[in-house]
Amino acid sequence: MDQKKVVVIGTGYVGGVSGTCLAEKGHYVTCVDSSEEKIEKWKGGNPEKFPVYEPGLDELVLRNHGKTLFFSSDIEHAIAEAEIIFVCVNTPTKEEGIGKGSFDLRYVEHVSRQIAKYARGEVLVVEKSTVPLKTAERIGQILRENGNGARFHTVSNPEFLAEGSAVQDFLQPDRVLIGTHADDGFAREKMEQLYYFVPKEKVVHANVWSSELTKLMNNAGLVLRITQANSITALCEQSGADVTEVMHAVGMDKRIGPHFLRAGIGFGGSCFRKDVNALIYLLKHYNLDTEARLYETALEINDKQRKRFVETMHHALFSLSGKEIAAYGFSFKPNTNDIRDAPSITVCDMLLNEGASLRICDPKAASSVNAAFERHRYKENIALVTADPYGAARGADAIALITEWDCFRPENADYMKIFESMRKPAWVFDGRLMYDGRKMQEIGFKYYGIGRQQS
Ligand code: NAD
Ligand code: UGA
Repeated sequence: MDQKKVVVIGTGYVGGVSGTCLAEKGHYVTCVDSSEEKIEKWKGGNPEKFPVYEPGLDELVLRNHGKTLFFSSDIEHAIAEAEIIFVCVNTPTKEEGIGKGSFDLRYVEHVSRQIAKYARGEVLVVEKSTVPLKTAERIGQILRENGNGARFHTVSNPEFLAEGSAVQDFLQPDRVLIGTHADDGFAREKMEQLYYFVPKEKVVHANVWSSELTKLMNNAGLVLRITQANSITALCEQSGADVTEVMHAVGMDKRIGPHFLRAGIGFGGSCFRKDVNALIYLLKHYNLDTEARLYETALEINDKQRKRFVETMHHALFSLSGKEIAAYGFSFKPNTNDIRDAPSITVCDMLLNEGASLRICDPKAASSVNAAFERHRYKENIALVTADPYGAARGADAIALITEWDCFRPENADYMKIFESMRKPAWVFDGRLMYDGRKMQEIGFKYYGIGRQQS
């Protein structure tokens, strides 16, 4: 292999994972972040304190730290040494003003200016953060017009990893997309060398703009698939059809395929809503209002899904006021500690506003609950935050299954014991279709599953 000197700027979910995985593959990687606190946590060597929880990540960090993997707050020095720079900073939704709804690119711009100032020699600047179309052009302009004599190659290399399986997704990706300018053979060759561990047929080259747009379309495509499943859940509940059966059979069509057709309480996470909003903004910018509406509707359906779940609880329990609800799961999906745009936040917020008392249970994200509801007017109605499903359900009127962590699966938790410890009638509201409704009813629970006929 041809070892590269890589600098990763931004050590969150993407930077932390990409940097560590590249180091695992033998490259010499320095990860930097403007948050000194994060860098200290990475350096500290205590996996419990690493800023990101991802299955398998701890082991790789501990194995490579100090050998091929380094964490530093000295961004200036790191940039000066780099051959390849990965820009992995956050690109949140711009919440107000001009460009509202699209990405806030201030961190990308800030980093580009730092690179322009400190880089030396011939350097690849790799856009890993998700950005709007034509961002590479802006980065290129900043680099060219502020550079200090270094020769820059701007590359788009969007990241497709999903949280919870990020390490595996990075090391064994479906594809690596490399967007370069047509005449930039140098950048193409360096990127291929960097990703030497990915089979050649999975390395896809495209022009920079196609590459940027592909990332937005990829997430938009996944969102539309989930939305298709969610769009029939209310219909299923009323008609006697079962959404799992329907989507299972639909997914067997080779042209459609089985993935991302799981109905439920709706998608969350840091990117789906943000990236779809940015796509909507882009389409409207080009006067493509009809096309934008497709994606606006998907976001509306997603919001409705969360709301409908709580409304169903309200009707089933007569009133939510004074009820004790065990919220199972707080992270936006299993196997991550990330709570950004988690459905749990909307659901818990609505439950609190209706006067319910909450017992929130999550194996990795429990520590984020207090911060999420710090300013909630009914925060004192969060009675318990725990990683113990039994403790959470004790004395509760209902379990609301929001995130399908393995510890909640019936093979890992004794639901007879849980049922016996609850107030009666004891309800299970299954937001992820994780339970066999009939078996839960046999135990004695009243059961509601999204998109399933109600008995
Ligand atoms: P994150 O918030 O977890 O991490 C971003 C990091 O960048 C933070 O640690 C922050 O301190 C750091 N940062 C911000 N400005 C900086 C600066 N000027 N200098 C140095 N560090 C700086 O975000 P993330 O989830 O890793 O996402 C990063 C980007 O990757 C986003 O554009 C996102 O859309 C995209 N993406 C995310 C995922 C995912 O699963 N999270 C997957 C694919 C793509
Ligand atoms: C998603 C994409 O899967 C990644 O390819 C992409 O790189 C990433 O966004 C990003 O750009 O940030 P992530 O959000 O980490 O990854 O996790 P997913 O597995 O996609 O799940 C997102 C949400 O959709 C979760 O809340 C999950 O519960 C929900 N989901 C997923 C469903 O409701 N149904 C499904 O069938 C699949």
